[in-house]
Amino acid sequence: MAKLTFAIPTLLGVEGLTADELRRMNMEDVRVENGRVFCQGDIKDIPRLNLRLRTGERVLILMGTFRATTFEELFEGTRKLAWERFIPDRGAFPVKGFSLNSALHSVPACQSIVKKAVATRLGKVYHRETLPETGALYQIQFSIMKDVASLMIDTSGPGLYKRGYRAVGVAAPLRETLAAAMVMVSGYRGRDPFCDPFCGSGTIAIEAALIAKNRAPGLNRTFSAQKWDWLPSSAWVDAAGEAMDLEFDGNYDIWGGDIDPEAIRIARSNAVKADVENLVRFEVADARSFSRTEPYGYIVSNPPYGERLMEKREAEDLYREFGRTVQGLPTGWKFNILSSHTEFERTFGRTADKKRKLYNGMLKCDLFQYGGKKGKKG
Ligand SMILES: C[S@@+](CC[C@H](N)C(=O)[O-])C[C@H]1O[C@@H](n2cnc3c(N)ncnc32)[C@H](O)[C@@H]1O
Repeated sequence: MAKLTFAIPTLLGVEGLTADELRRMNMEDVRVENGRVFCQGDIKDIPRLNLRLRTGERVLILMGTFRATTFEELFEGTRKLAWERFIPDRGAFPVKGFSLNSALHSVPACQSIVKKAVATRLGKVYHRETLPETGALYQIQFSIMKDVASLMIDTSGPGLYKRGYRAVGVAAPLRETLAAAMVMVSGYRGRDPFCDPFCGSGTIAIEAALIAKNRAPGLNRTFSAQKWDWLPSSAWVDAAGEAMDLEFDGNYDIWGGDIDPEAIRIARSNAVKADVENLVRFEVADARSFSRTEPYGYIVSNPPYGERLMEKREAEDLYREFGRTVQGLPTGWKFNILSSHTEFERTFGRTADKKRKLYNGMLKCDLFQYGGKKGKKG
C-alpha cells in the first residue's frame, strides 16, 4: 500500500510534544499545525501509533485536503477521494466534523453533504444503490478551517486519553493526555523521586509510572481499526510486541498524596487497573506539610484552581502555604504546577522560570515551571 498521511489532533499547547513522540517512533515528514500534527507512515503504523502515543488525542488517516467554499465544492472534493481504498462495501461510515472561520459554517449541512458524496462514490464502486453499512465502523471526520476542508477516517474509536484505567464519575480529573504532557515537559525520566501532592484520582502519578517504565499507554484497550479486515491482526500483535520489548524494568519512587481519602481510594484502584500498583504509592496527606530529603526530585501537580470567588481565596491560601512548605525542600527539586489562577505566582511566592500555556478542556491554564538546581537528569 502507498504511504498514508496521518493527522493526530492534540490539545492546544501539546503539539510539539506529540511531534517529538512521532519523530521518536521514526514517522516521516512530521508537520505541526495548531491543534494537530501530521506525519507519514504505512498501515503497520496504525497499531503502533494507537498503542504508543501518549499525548495525541486520536489517529486519523488523512484522505485529502481541498478548498471548499460551496456545498458543490465540498461534495465534489469529497467524492473524488478514494474512499474504497479503506471502506469495504459493508463498512459503516457515519460522519462528524467541525467548521471554523469558513463560508461553510453549518456543521449538520456539511455532514450530510460529505455523507452523500462518500455514499455516491462507494455506491458506484460497489455497484449498489444502497450501502448496507452493517460492517465495521469507519468513522469519517471532517474539518473546515479558513475554507480548507480536510477529510479523515478515524482509526482509534474512543479518544486515546481513554487508556482504560480510570474510574468514571471522578470530580475535576485531568485528561490522561494532558497529564502525560505535563510529565514529559517536566523532564522526568524515572530516576529521581516524583511526587504529586494534589493527586486526586492519581492521573499524573500513573502517567509518570507509564513513562518511567516506557509502557505503551494503549495496551489495555481496543481501537476501531482492530475490526478492519484489511489490517491484519498480526500487525496489532507485532506492534504490541514491539512496544513491550521497549519496556524497562526498574524501581521507581513515584508518590501521590491527597487530603481526601476517597480520592486516594480511587487513585489506588486506578493504579491497579493501569497495572502500575507496584510502581506508585498513594497516601492520604496534606500538601501543606509535604516534605522530602532527597537532593533531587520532581513535583508535577494540578492543585485546586478555585473557580468561584470564595474558592479562589481558599486556593490562594493553599498556594501560599504550599509555596512556603516547598521552600524547605533541597534546591535540586523541580516544580511543574498547572493552574488557571491568575495570581498563582504571587501567592506561591516565586516567579516561574518558564510558563507554558496548556488547555485543561476549555479552561486556559499555565504550567508554572520552576527549574531547580542543575544536577543529574531525570
Ligand atoms: C484539581 S484536583 C486534582 C485532580 C487530579 N489531577 C486528577 O487527575 O484526578 C485537586 C485535588 O487537590 C486535593 N486537595 C485540596 N487541598 C489539599 C491539601 N491541602 N492537600 C492535599 N490535597 C488537597 C483535592 O482533594 C483534589 O483531589
